[in-house]
Amino acid sequence: MKIRTKIKLALASTLLSFSVLAAGDLHLDHANTDISDTASLQNGAKLFMNYCSGCHAIGFMRYNRIAKDLNLNDSLVSKHLMFAGEKPGETITTAMPKDAAKKWFGNPPPDLSLVARSKGTDWIYTYLKGFYEDESKAFGVNNKVLANASMPDVLWSLKEGKPEAEFDQDVRDITNFLDYVGEPAKLIRTSLGVWVLLFLGVLFILTYLLKKEYWKDVKYGIWRPRD
Ligand code: HEC
Repeated sequence: MKIRTKIKLALASTLLSFSVLAAGDLHLDHANTDISDTASLQNGAKLFMNYCSGCHAIGFMRYNRIAKDLNLNDSLVSKHLMFAGEKPGETITTAMPKDAAKKWFGNPPPDLSLVARSKGTDWIYTYLKGFYEDESKAFGVNNKVLANASMPDVLWSLKEGKPEAEFDQDVRDITNFLDYVGEPAKLIRTSLGVWVLLFLGVLFILTYLLKKEYWKDVKYGIWRPRD
């Protein structure tokens, strides 16, 4: 077979597999999170500690790092983040014993440190809002994003008696917090990036002026008389 035919066949089969995959794809809502929104991250951290950390660890994150990045002072940290006498430098583990969790849920609740990196924010946002009633399940709910999820609808009490938009914002804040946890350096990286680009801009002007200065000599200097 000619090499060109081979390439064409390879391209065609890749395209075909993409479209087959896309057909089975689930619609995900846009999370619209913004990790530069500190108020949203603070609310997300508080909600995560209250509604999720009983089952899920975020083992790559420490309390004092959150306090520093989210501008939380000591009293706020102990009020909203640390309930069981943890130390500020500790990583955020869960009190739930792994073996028992496996027995209770079938699947033990995974560590969520990197879940925003592996699944994406839209996935998490839609997942948290995607619980629906299903009496055949142990917790009476199923999930439209993760079929037969063994996680209960933990946010039902938060949803109750709240306008829809407010609840959406809470879920968005939790998602935002998990996005931040997945890459805390993003906060610094993005703000530093602006300065780096500004610096490169100034450097460009200086370099351009320097180039003009050098080429003046090359064009009209000792090597070539002025036209
Ligand atoms: C009662 C225990 C429990 C609580 C509380 C809980 N979860 Fe879960 N969660 C689970 C279990 C169990 C799974 C595994 C589901 C599965 O794989 O079927 C899970 C799975 C997940 C997943 C999917 C992870 C993956 O990679 O598949 C995400 C995301 C998640 N939970 C987020 C949250 C968030 C955010 C909260 C707080 C609002 C929360 N969970 C509260 C038990 C819990």
